Amino acid sequence: MPKDFCDILANNKPDPCTLVIFGGSGDLTRRKLIPALYSLFSRNQLPEPFAVIGCSRTQLTSDQYRDRLKKDLQKNGQDLTDWDAFASLLYYYPVSYDSAGFSGLREYLIQQDRTCSCRGNRIFDLAVPPSLYPIIAELLGRTKLSREDDDGNGWARIVVEKPFGRDLESAKELDRILHDSFREEQIFRIDHYLAKETVQNMLIFRFANSIFEPIWNRHHIEHVSIMAAESLGVGNRAGYYEQAGVLRDMFQNHMMQLLVLTAMEPPCRLEAGAVQDEKVKTIRSLRDFHPARGSRISLGQYEAGLIDGVAVSGYRQEQGIARQSLVPTFALMELYLDNWRWQGVPFFLVSGKRLPRKTTRIVVQFKEVPHKLFQSMFGDSISANRLVIETFPEEAIRLNFQTKSPGAATCLRTMVMDFTYSAHYPGKPLEAYGRVLLDCMNGDHMLFWRQDGIEASWDFLTPVLEECEQCCNLDQQLHYYAAGTWGPESVQGLMKKIIRS
Ligand SMILES: NC(=O)c1ccc[n+]([C@@H]2O[C@H](COP(=O)([O-])OP(=O)(O)OC[C@H]3O[C@@H](n4cnc5c(N)ncnc54)[C@H](OP(=O)(O)O)[C@@H]3O)[C@@H](O)[C@H]2O)c1
Repeated sequence: MPKDFCDILANNKPDPCTLVIFGGSGDLTRRKLIPALYSLFSRNQLPEPFAVIGCSRTQLTSDQYRDRLKKDLQKNGQDLTDWDAFASLLYYYPVSYDSAGFSGLREYLIQQDRTCSCRGNRIFDLAVPPSLYPIIAELLGRTKLSREDDDGNGWARIVVEKPFGRDLESAKELDRILHDSFREEQIFRIDHYLAKETVQNMLIFRFANSIFEPIWNRHHIEHVSIMAAESLGVGNRAGYYEQAGVLRDMFQNHMMQLLVLTAMEPPCRLEAGAVQDEKVKTIRSLRDFHPARGSRISLGQYEAGLIDGVAVSGYRQEQGIARQSLVPTFALMELYLDNWRWQGVPFFLVSGKRLPRKTTRIVVQFKEVPHKLFQSMFGDSISANRLVIETFPEEAIRLNFQTKSPGAATCLRTMVMDFTYSAHYPGKPLEAYGRVLLDCMNGDHMLFWRQDGIEASWDFLTPVLEECEQCCNLDQQLHYYAAGTWGPESVQGLMKKIIRS
């Protein structure tokens, strides 16, 4: 696409709207949503006019709210040149989650709309604990704020953060409640992993180049590994994590999406519905997974250890964690897709907390050359090609291949052809949250989950969770690892294979 055309698209501003953030006083709002909106403002990509209304139970004035948010940005070393202009778009409304509270909110929004001329277009972002999702959706329906055809209303959209339920049943129940008040097109289920440049680039890389697709299958690929490692521990999210654990926190959503983008078939058109159809088909082709019948899963929990030379506590010593907790903070799963393209190719999915460093990457390990012409000289030390698609610490794509070192002797050397976004696109990339918020303002569902995808993902994972959580010898299934190591001892061999780059 010519550069100018990209610029035209980037400068196409969404319709005027008001973003109402429930949980406006919370962690997600302060750490992710406001910085993302500030960055969109600095890039001149927000709609005009536009307003953000933070809503929570905490009693704050709009000025106090702005001060808080400014301090958060300052703490993170953000350049505050544009702050004053941005702050004029921010408001705060203390809300109670009942009929009276929402009637008041409705009046406030109507009034606010007259001041700001946002045409009654509204996005309701649920940055609150998941137990509030049904309550808020129901109240938005009851007060007619979900309506798009009512007096004073423009369009209305609801943004739901993961987790989308705790299992298949609760995901269906949440969906039913959302649909009591909203149509599917009004619902945006966020997975911000999908908005990272390299993740989006996966489709372009695979389907806009002719050289990769013919070898993207069981004939040429030995295995695929997908890793999302964090060096951080559970931090201040103990309450949530004790309920979720690594499988619900990472596998049902982010890991599944990375797997799907790597393995899916080309969609017939680059539009949300066609892409989602292919994604769901891929999830449905996952082979049933039963740990008790030999499917491979390793669960771990971190103990005290060292991260970058600094001593850190074990999971059970963290604030808010049960001293006997059996919640896994690490999981490695070996999955198979039962379809023509991927039959027999293992997909290793790994995620964990308190691993040595934060890294997110997909590694496609190609098969060794069929005839080892150089074996007499180099034995088995010739490594096969490997493609690494990394989203952290760098957004990068790297391909390893063999070359001859210069000189009279025949010496092989593995070289890396690499592309890093930062080298070719200077400037700070748009944060993933910025991208998904912008897409929601534009009504574009491409980077969001569709309900059938969520259900297919839970359908696959729920039996795994049941087996892992309800078995009588759970304490024997959970392997411990020191913080700052690559997971439990039992998976070290496999982990070496996976983390080698
Ligand atoms: N934090 C992240 O990095 C992150 C990442 C991905 C997804 N998420 C999801 O995003 C949502 C918000 O996460 P968060 O970390 O921002 O949550 P949080 O800080 O625990 O809660 C957000 C706000 O919700 C209100 N709240 C908390 N408990 C409540 C209750 N029982 N009843 C009514 N209001 C309550 C609080 O505001 P008031 O007390 O002022 O009402 C709080 O400031 C969650 O569903 C989470 O799973 C979070």
